[in-house]
Amino acid sequence: MLLVFPALSFPLKYGPKQADINMSSLSTRRVLLGITGGIAAYKSAELTRLFVKAGAEVRVVMTAAATEFITPLTLQALSGNRVHTELLDADAEAGMGHIELARWPDLILVAPASADFMARLATGQAGDILSTLILASKAPVAIAPAMNQAMWSNPATQTNLDVLRARNMLVFGPASGEQACGDTGPGRMLEPQQLIELSASIFESGLLAGLRITITAGPTQEAIDPVRFISNGSSGKMAYALATEAAAAGALVTLISGPVALQTPDRVQCIDVISADEMLAASLQRIENCDIFIGVAAVADYRPERIAEQKIKKSADSMLLTLVKNPDIVSTIANLPGRPFTVGFAAETDRIEDFGLEKLQRKNLDLLFANDARATLGSDDITATSLWANGREVLGPANKRVVARQMLELIRKRFDANDA
Ligand code: C5P
Repeated sequence: MLLVFPALSFPLKYGPKQADINMSSLSTRRVLLGITGGIAAYKSAELTRLFVKAGAEVRVVMTAAATEFITPLTLQALSGNRVHTELLDADAEAGMGHIELARWPDLILVAPASADFMARLATGQAGDILSTLILASKAPVAIAPAMNQAMWSNPATQTNLDVLRARNMLVFGPASGEQACGDTGPGRMLEPQQLIELSASIFESGLLAGLRITITAGPTQEAIDPVRFISNGSSGKMAYALATEAAAAGALVTLISGPVALQTPDRVQCIDVISADEMLAASLQRIENCDIFIGVAAVADYRPERIAEQKIKKSADSMLLTLVKNPDIVSTIANLPGRPFTVGFAAETDRIEDFGLEKLQRKNLDLLFANDARATLGSDDITATSLWANGREVLGPANKRVVARQMLELIRKRFDANDA
């Protein structure tokens, strides 16, 4: 069968940055920033600010020597969290104790890391809060060395470095150049922006490298007359979170978005549409270049049978609007020959799993995420039940960005299983 699609052309727009590193991969990540004693500690304030700006949650831990160079109060103000400086601190233990803190981060970055601290790490010491946390944590650890060039080149430091590298610690820098002590050579801490980019790269998983993913997003608006329309309260947050995370995981992402108040994510191509008909036409246009199609949009089920050319005047006490059914976009895609791996959503108010399963089958989907419409609409959090032909898995409750990552991991697994 030859399918002929209308040659509509939709305006394309791109996320603000086409940078190599996607800074948004730091969003919602928990970063434990360790600061040790060195003049470069003054740059840790800027580093904290940049992490927070990139959407990371930051907790700062300082050694006693670090507090000689920069005050905990500065870091507390910038991170928005209490700074930890003591191992045996009854007050801190009553809040987030050190073992709890060791379990908390997605990344531990020590910047600056002094020669002394590297030596303590290499010998597995736990005499201060920062080295104790690193010993007790399973999170990836990165260090940004900063010291005098002779200290850096000293065989003792280089041997410690080899030990730390052998234990899979990441080493960011150091740079070479002019030093605070007047020397020139290797040992300068990398600039905060470089450290941010290296940290972001840790979270670029490559999970979806090279896969072409199309995502429908937001509500659609169905015109009644030139100034009125039928729509719904979908915020688009779930679809945009998926697009952001998919791009960070290496996918080539196209968002086909109804009207929402959200910024196009970095490295995502966005096609703006208004109505369900437009969303379907744009989806069909992309389909040949699509490995995975994810229907997240809250498409209006009905549209007015005809759109009045002029604004409808209010005269009668009541009026009748005849509605006709809109095309089902995700189901249309799922029933095409040679279709992509197709994923749908089901926002329900009751019998969530039953209705979800029914939709999975009726729409011929590979995977479906069912959720509670009342708890999800407009919210930043979500709980989703993933359903496929012979399995289920509950994701969340958590922030939509966190659940989006889990959804993409599952999509990858099911996509591979379907391919096998
Ligand atoms: O039928 P229901 O609207 O509950 O199904 C939800 C799923 O179907 C979502 O994946 C949604 O994006 C998709 N859908 C669609 N086109 C429609 C209605 C729903 O793609 N007209």
